[in-house]
Amino acid sequence: GKGGYDHYMLKEIHEQPHAIRQCLSGRVDELHGRVELEELDGLSTPKRVQFIACGTSYHAGLYAAHLFREMGVPAQTFIASEYATSPPPVGEDELVVAITQSGETADTLSALREAKARGAETLALTNVVGSSVTRECDHTMYIRAGPEIGVAASKTFTSQLVAVNLLVEAMNGNDAGVLTGLRDLAGDLQSVLDRVNVRSAAAQLAAADRCFFVGRGLNHPVALEGALKFKEITYVHAEGFPAGELKHGSLALVTEDTPVVAVLTGDDEETRKTIGNIKEVESRDAPVIAVTDGRVEVASFVDECIQIPETHPHVAPLLANVVLQLIAYRSANLLGRSIDKPRNLAKSVTVE
Ligand code: F6R
Repeated sequence: GKGGYDHYMLKEIHEQPHAIRQCLSGRVDELHGRVELEELDGLSTPKRVQFIACGTSYHAGLYAAHLFREMGVPAQTFIASEYATSPPPVGEDELVVAITQSGETADTLSALREAKARGAETLALTNVVGSSVTRECDHTMYIRAGPEIGVAASKTFTSQLVAVNLLVEAMNGNDAGVLTGLRDLAGDLQSVLDRVNVRSAAAQLAAADRCFFVGRGLNHPVALEGALKFKEITYVHAEGFPAGELKHGSLALVTEDTPVVAVLTGDDEETRKTIGNIKEVESRDAPVIAVTDGRVEVASFVDECIQIPETHPHVAPLLANVVLQLIAYRSANLLGRSIDKPRNLAKSVTVE
Protein backbone atom coordinates (compact mmCIF):
# COMPACT_ATOMS: atom_id res chain seq x y z
CA GLY A 1 0.00 0.00 0.00
CA LYS A 2 0.81 3.68 0.07
CA GLY A 3 1.83 3.58 3.71
CA GLY A 4 -0.25 6.60 4.69
CA TYR A 5 0.88 8.76 1.77
CA ASP A 6 -1.61 10.14 -0.76
CA HIS A 7 0.37 8.76 -3.68
CA TYR A 8 3.03 6.13 -4.34
CA MET A 9 5.21 8.87 -5.76
CA LEU A 10 5.23 10.76 -2.46
CA LYS A 11 5.90 7.53 -0.59
CA GLU A 12 8.77 6.75 -2.94
CA ILE A 13 10.21 10.26 -2.58
CA HIS A 14 10.21 9.67 1.17
CA GLU A 15 11.80 6.24 0.78
CA GLN A 16 14.94 7.79 -0.68
CA PRO A 17 17.05 7.86 2.50
CA HIS A 18 16.39 4.12 2.86
CA ALA A 19 17.08 3.49 -0.83
CA ILE A 20 20.43 5.30 -0.55
CA ARG A 21 21.43 3.19 2.45
CA GLN A 22 20.49 0.04 0.53
CA CYS A 23 22.58 1.11 -2.45
CA LEU A 24 25.62 1.81 -0.25
CA SER A 25 25.21 -1.21 2.01
CA GLY A 26 28.27 -3.47 2.02
CA ARG A 27 29.84 -1.52 -0.81
CA VAL A 28 31.89 1.00 1.16
CA ASP A 29 34.72 -0.16 3.41
CA GLU A 30 34.61 2.66 5.97
CA LEU A 31 37.79 1.55 7.71
CA HIS A 32 39.97 1.81 4.61
CA GLY A 33 37.90 4.48 2.85
CA ARG A 34 37.35 2.29 -0.19
CA VAL A 35 34.47 1.34 -2.41
CA GLU A 36 34.34 -2.37 -3.08
CA LEU A 37 32.07 -3.64 -5.82
CA GLU A 38 32.12 -7.41 -6.26
CA GLU A 39 30.03 -6.80 -9.36
CA LEU A 40 33.06 -5.34 -11.08
CA ASP A 41 35.36 -8.33 -10.55
CA GLY A 42 37.14 -8.88 -13.82
CA LEU A 43 36.39 -5.38 -15.09
CA SER A 44 39.32 -2.96 -15.16
CA THR A 45 39.10 0.82 -15.45
CA PRO A 46 37.90 1.38 -19.01
CA LYS A 47 39.75 3.60 -21.48
CA ARG A 48 36.48 5.09 -22.67
CA VAL A 49 32.84 4.80 -21.64
CA GLN A 50 29.53 5.13 -23.46
CA PHE A 51 26.23 5.39 -21.61
CA ILE A 52 22.98 4.45 -23.31
CA ALA A 53 19.60 5.15 -21.75
CA CYS A 54 16.21 6.84 -22.13
CA GLY A 55 14.29 9.48 -20.19
CA THR A 56 15.25 9.80 -16.55
CA SER A 57 17.93 7.14 -16.95
CA TYR A 58 19.42 9.24 -19.75
CA HIS A 59 19.74 12.11 -17.30
CA ALA A 60 21.59 9.76 -14.93
CA GLY A 61 23.83 8.93 -17.91
CA LEU A 62 24.63 12.61 -18.50
CA TYR A 63 25.61 12.96 -14.86
CA ALA A 64 27.71 9.80 -15.05
CA ALA A 65 29.61 10.86 -18.17
CA HIS A 66 30.45 14.18 -16.50
CA LEU A 67 32.03 12.35 -13.53
CA PHE A 68 34.01 9.99 -15.78
CA ARG A 69 35.38 12.87 -17.85
CA GLU A 70 36.35 14.62 -14.62
CA MET A 71 38.50 11.58 -13.80
CA GLY A 72 40.09 11.76 -17.22
CA VAL A 73 38.13 8.99 -18.95
CA PRO A 74 36.49 10.07 -22.21
CA ALA A 75 32.77 9.42 -21.77
CA GLN A 76 29.66 10.11 -23.82
CA THR A 77 25.97 9.59 -23.25
CA PHE A 78 23.52 8.54 -25.95
CA ILE A 79 19.75 8.55 -26.13
CA ALA A 80 19.19 4.85 -26.73
CA SER A 81 16.67 5.28 -29.55
CA GLU A 82 19.24 7.35 -31.48
CA TYR A 83 22.26 5.13 -30.86
CA ALA A 84 21.81 2.83 -33.84
CA THR A 85 21.01 5.69 -36.22
CA SER A 86 24.67 6.68 -36.10
CA PRO A 87 26.53 4.19 -33.94
CA PRO A 88 29.73 5.57 -32.42
CA PRO A 89 32.94 3.56 -32.90
CA VAL A 90 33.60 1.11 -30.09
CA GLY A 91 37.31 1.05 -29.31
CA GLU A 92 39.43 -1.40 -27.35
CA ASP A 93 38.75 -1.27 -23.59
CA GLU A 94 35.55 0.63 -24.26
CA LEU A 95 32.82 -0.01 -21.71
CA VAL A 96 29.19 0.45 -22.69
CA VAL A 97 26.88 1.01 -19.74
CA ALA A 98 23.14 0.51 -20.19
CA ILE A 99 21.25 2.46 -17.54
CA THR A 100 17.68 1.24 -17.19
CA GLN A 101 15.54 1.12 -14.08
CA SER A 102 13.22 -1.57 -15.41
CA GLY A 103 15.85 -3.46 -17.37
CA GLU A 104 13.19 -3.97 -20.06
CA THR A 105 13.22 -0.76 -22.14
CA ALA A 106 13.21 -1.83 -25.79
CA ASP A 107 15.17 1.19 -27.04
CA THR A 108 17.93 0.57 -24.51
CA LEU A 109 18.13 -3.17 -25.19
CA SER A 110 18.28 -2.52 -28.90
CA ALA A 111 21.14 0.01 -28.54
CA LEU A 112 22.93 -2.43 -26.26
CA ARG A 113 22.76 -5.15 -28.92
CA GLU A 114 24.21 -2.73 -31.43
CA ALA A 115 27.14 -2.00 -29.08
CA LYS A 116 27.69 -5.70 -28.41
CA ALA A 117 27.76 -6.43 -32.12
CA ARG A 118 30.65 -3.96 -32.29
CA GLY A 119 32.54 -5.84 -29.58
CA ALA A 120 31.89 -3.64 -26.54
CA GLU A 121 32.20 -4.93 -23.00
CA THR A 122 28.88 -4.19 -21.32
CA LEU A 123 27.61 -3.27 -17.87
CA ALA A 124 23.96 -3.05 -16.82
CA LEU A 125 22.96 -0.53 -14.17
CA THR A 126 19.44 -1.55 -13.23
CA ASN A 127 16.93 -1.89 -10.43
CA VAL A 128 15.16 -5.08 -11.42
CA VAL A 129 16.82 -8.35 -10.49
CA GLY A 130 16.97 -10.80 -13.36
CA SER A 131 15.58 -8.29 -15.88
CA SER A 132 16.37 -8.65 -19.60
CA VAL A 133 19.27 -6.22 -19.50
CA THR A 134 21.07 -8.31 -16.88
CA ARG A 135 20.93 -11.34 -19.16
CA GLU A 136 22.36 -9.41 -22.08
CA CYS A 137 25.26 -7.64 -20.33
CA ASP A 138 28.67 -8.99 -19.26
CA HIS A 139 28.34 -7.34 -15.84
CA THR A 140 25.44 -6.08 -13.72
CA MET A 141 25.34 -3.57 -10.90
CA TYR A 142 22.03 -3.26 -9.07
CA ILE A 143 20.90 0.10 -7.76
CA ARG A 144 18.79 -1.59 -5.05
CA ALA A 145 16.08 1.08 -4.87
CA GLY A 146 13.30 -1.43 -4.26
CA PRO A 147 10.11 -1.57 -6.35
CA GLU A 148 8.90 1.74 -7.79
CA ILE A 149 5.15 1.90 -8.44
CA GLY A 150 4.77 5.54 -9.47
CA VAL A 151 5.16 5.79 -13.25
CA ALA A 152 7.37 8.87 -12.89
CA ALA A 153 10.79 7.76 -11.68
CA SER A 154 11.82 9.34 -8.36
CA LYS A 155 13.81 7.21 -5.93
CA THR A 156 15.30 5.15 -8.72
CA PHE A 157 16.94 8.26 -10.24
CA THR A 158 18.56 9.08 -6.90
CA SER A 159 19.74 5.48 -6.55
CA GLN A 160 21.16 5.54 -10.09
CA LEU A 161 23.22 8.61 -9.18
CA VAL A 162 24.45 6.98 -5.97
CA ALA A 163 25.43 3.85 -7.91
CA VAL A 164 27.25 5.96 -10.49
CA ASN A 165 29.23 7.63 -7.70
CA LEU A 166 30.21 4.21 -6.35
CA LEU A 167 31.30 3.11 -9.80
CA VAL A 168 33.43 6.21 -10.27
CA GLU A 169 35.01 5.97 -6.82
CA ALA A 170 35.74 2.25 -7.25
CA MET A 171 37.50 2.98 -10.52
CA ASN A 172 39.10 6.26 -9.54
CA GLY A 173 40.78 5.56 -6.23
CA ASN A 174 38.25 6.67 -3.66
CA ASP A 175 38.05 10.38 -2.94
CA ALA A 176 37.55 10.87 0.80
CA GLY A 177 35.34 13.92 0.26
CA VAL A 178 32.96 12.06 -2.03
CA LEU A 179 32.80 9.07 0.31
CA THR A 180 31.94 11.39 3.21
CA GLY A 181 29.28 13.05 1.07
CA LEU A 182 27.78 9.66 0.23
CA ARG A 183 27.91 8.53 3.87
CA ASP A 184 26.02 11.68 4.93
CA LEU A 185 23.63 11.65 1.97
CA ALA A 186 20.74 9.69 3.52
CA GLY A 187 20.71 12.07 6.52
CA ASP A 188 21.07 15.18 4.35
CA LEU A 189 18.24 14.01 2.12
CA GLN A 190 16.08 13.33 5.17
CA SER A 191 16.69 16.88 6.34
CA VAL A 192 15.58 18.19 2.92
CA LEU A 193 12.37 16.13 3.25
CA ASP A 194 11.80 17.38 6.82
CA ARG A 195 12.68 21.04 6.43
CA VAL A 196 12.28 22.26 2.88
CA ASN A 197 9.07 24.10 2.12
CA VAL A 198 8.14 24.16 -1.56
CA ARG A 199 4.56 25.33 -1.12
CA SER A 200 4.88 28.78 -2.64
CA ALA A 201 7.25 27.68 -5.43
CA ALA A 202 4.80 24.90 -6.36
CA ALA A 203 1.86 27.32 -6.35
CA GLN A 204 3.71 29.73 -8.60
CA LEU A 205 4.70 27.03 -11.10
CA ALA A 206 1.29 25.37 -11.07
CA ALA A 207 -0.25 28.72 -12.06
CA ALA A 208 2.08 29.21 -15.04
CA ASP A 209 1.56 28.10 -18.65
CA ARG A 210 5.20 27.17 -18.98
CA CYS A 211 8.35 27.14 -16.93
CA PHE A 212 12.05 26.56 -17.38
CA PHE A 213 14.65 24.72 -15.35
CA VAL A 214 18.31 25.63 -15.70
CA GLY A 215 21.58 24.31 -14.31
CA ARG A 216 25.22 24.04 -15.33
CA GLY A 217 27.66 21.14 -15.17
CA LEU A 218 26.33 18.39 -12.90
CA ASN A 219 23.21 20.51 -12.36
CA HIS A 220 22.39 20.38 -16.06
CA PRO A 221 21.03 16.80 -15.89
CA VAL A 222 19.22 17.80 -12.68
CA ALA A 223 17.53 20.68 -14.53
CA LEU A 224 16.52 18.33 -17.37
CA GLU A 225 15.17 15.82 -14.89
CA GLY A 226 13.32 18.54 -12.96
CA ALA A 227 11.59 19.64 -16.16
CA LEU A 228 10.77 16.08 -17.26
CA LYS A 229 9.26 15.26 -13.86
CA PHE A 230 7.31 18.51 -13.85
CA LYS A 231 5.76 18.12 -17.29
CA GLU A 232 5.12 14.41 -16.80
CA ILE A 233 2.92 14.81 -13.75
CA THR A 234 1.54 18.39 -14.05
CA TYR A 235 0.96 18.43 -17.86
CA VAL A 236 2.35 21.98 -17.81
CA HIS A 237 4.98 22.68 -20.42
CA ALA A 238 8.39 22.64 -18.78
CA GLU A 239 11.79 22.66 -20.42
CA GLY A 240 15.21 22.09 -18.96
CA PHE A 241 18.32 23.78 -20.29
CA PRO A 242 22.00 24.05 -19.63
CA ALA A 243 21.99 27.46 -17.94
CA GLY A 244 24.13 29.07 -20.64
CA GLU A 245 21.93 27.88 -23.50
CA LEU A 246 18.72 29.75 -22.73
CA LYS A 247 20.10 32.96 -24.22
CA HIS A 248 20.72 31.23 -27.56
CA GLY A 249 17.08 31.38 -28.57
CA SER A 250 14.61 30.29 -25.92
CA LEU A 251 15.10 33.54 -24.01
CA ALA A 252 12.58 34.91 -26.52
CA LEU A 253 9.89 33.02 -24.59
CA VAL A 254 10.85 34.45 -21.22
CA THR A 255 8.39 36.95 -19.76
CA GLU A 256 7.01 37.83 -16.35
CA ASP A 257 4.77 34.77 -16.79
CA THR A 258 7.62 32.30 -17.25
CA PRO A 259 9.02 31.17 -13.90
CA VAL A 260 12.62 29.91 -14.08
CA VAL A 261 13.91 27.39 -11.58
CA ALA A 262 17.70 27.64 -11.27
CA VAL A 263 19.83 24.99 -9.60
CA LEU A 264 23.04 26.36 -8.09
CA THR A 265 25.39 24.22 -6.06
CA GLY A 266 29.08 24.58 -5.36
CA ASP A 267 31.17 27.71 -5.20
CA ASP A 268 33.06 28.10 -8.40
CA GLU A 269 33.27 29.86 -11.72
CA GLU A 270 30.35 27.77 -13.04
CA THR A 271 28.01 28.93 -10.30
CA ARG A 272 28.97 32.54 -10.96
CA LYS A 273 28.23 32.13 -14.65
CA THR A 274 24.81 30.66 -13.84
CA ILE A 275 24.14 33.72 -11.68
CA GLY A 276 24.85 35.83 -14.76
CA ASN A 277 22.27 33.76 -16.66
CA ILE A 278 19.73 34.26 -13.87
CA LYS A 279 20.21 38.00 -14.09
CA GLU A 280 19.44 37.86 -17.80
CA VAL A 281 16.05 36.23 -17.22
CA GLU A 282 15.32 38.56 -14.33
CA SER A 283 15.84 41.56 -16.53
CA ARG A 284 12.96 40.14 -18.63
CA ASP A 285 10.91 40.14 -15.40
CA ALA A 286 10.81 36.33 -15.07
CA PRO A 287 10.29 35.14 -11.50
CA VAL A 288 13.33 33.10 -10.40
CA ILE A 289 13.23 30.28 -7.89
CA ALA A 290 16.74 29.24 -6.84
CA VAL A 291 17.63 25.88 -5.34
CA THR A 292 20.99 26.40 -3.72
CA ASP A 293 23.42 25.03 -1.15
CA GLY A 294 24.10 28.61 -0.10
CA ARG A 295 27.79 28.57 -0.99
CA VAL A 296 27.21 31.60 -3.11
CA GLU A 297 24.72 34.19 -1.94
CA VAL A 298 21.69 34.38 -4.23
CA ALA A 299 18.79 35.01 -1.84
CA SER A 300 19.11 38.79 -2.17
CA PHE A 301 18.31 38.89 -5.88
CA VAL A 302 15.98 35.95 -6.59
CA ASP A 303 12.25 35.80 -5.86
CA GLU A 304 12.50 32.66 -3.84
CA CYS A 305 15.45 30.75 -2.48
CA ILE A 306 15.21 27.12 -1.41
CA GLN A 307 18.17 25.98 0.62
CA ILE A 308 19.72 22.50 0.69
CA PRO A 309 22.51 21.31 3.02
CA GLU A 310 26.12 21.83 1.97
CA THR A 311 27.93 18.69 0.87
CA HIS A 312 30.46 17.48 -1.69
CA PRO A 313 29.85 19.03 -5.15
CA HIS A 314 29.30 15.58 -6.68
CA VAL A 315 26.54 14.88 -4.17
CA ALA A 316 24.78 18.26 -3.89
CA PRO A 317 22.92 17.81 -7.20
CA LEU A 318 21.17 14.76 -5.71
CA LEU A 319 19.75 16.94 -2.92
CA ALA A 320 18.70 19.66 -5.36
CA ASN A 321 16.91 17.01 -7.41
CA VAL A 322 14.78 16.06 -4.42
CA VAL A 323 13.59 19.66 -4.12
CA LEU A 324 12.56 19.53 -7.79
CA GLN A 325 10.71 16.24 -7.17
CA LEU A 326 8.79 17.87 -4.32
CA ILE A 327 7.98 20.93 -6.44
CA ALA A 328 6.67 18.73 -9.27
CA TYR A 329 4.65 16.61 -6.86
CA ARG A 330 3.10 19.59 -5.00
CA SER A 331 2.29 21.40 -8.26
CA ALA A 332 0.64 18.29 -9.75
CA ASN A 333 -1.31 17.83 -6.54
CA LEU A 334 -2.58 21.43 -6.66
CA LEU A 335 -3.69 20.79 -10.24
CA GLY A 336 -5.43 17.56 -9.23
CA ARG A 337 -3.48 15.39 -11.66
CA SER A 338 -3.27 11.61 -11.76
CA ILE A 339 0.19 11.63 -10.22
CA ASP A 340 0.96 7.92 -10.03
CA LYS A 341 -0.38 7.18 -13.51
CA PRO A 342 0.06 10.18 -15.78
CA ARG A 343 -1.96 10.08 -18.99
CA ASN A 344 -0.37 8.37 -22.02
CA LEU A 345 2.56 6.92 -20.06
CA ALA A 346 3.58 3.41 -19.01
CA LYS A 347 6.12 2.37 -16.41
CA SER A 348 8.05 0.16 -18.75
CA VAL A 349 8.29 0.93 -22.47
CA THR A 350 8.79 -2.32 -24.34
CA VAL A 351 8.33 -1.05 -27.90
CA GLU A 352 10.75 0.94 -30.05
C1 F6R B 1 10.39 9.36 -16.36
C2 F6R B 1 10.51 7.94 -16.64
C3 F6R B 1 10.97 7.51 -18.01
C4 F6R B 1 11.98 6.36 -17.87
C5 F6R B 1 12.37 5.82 -19.24
C6 F6R B 1 13.44 4.75 -19.14
O1 F6R B 1 9.92 9.60 -15.09
O2 F6R B 1 10.24 7.14 -15.80
O3 F6R B 1 11.54 8.57 -18.68
O4 F6R B 1 13.10 6.83 -17.19
O5 F6R B 1 11.23 5.30 -19.89
O6 F6R B 1 13.01 3.69 -18.35
P1 F6R B 1 14.05 2.64 -17.79
O7 F6R B 1 14.95 3.37 -16.82
O8 F6R B 1 13.23 1.59 -17.12
O9 F6R B 1 14.83 2.12 -18.96
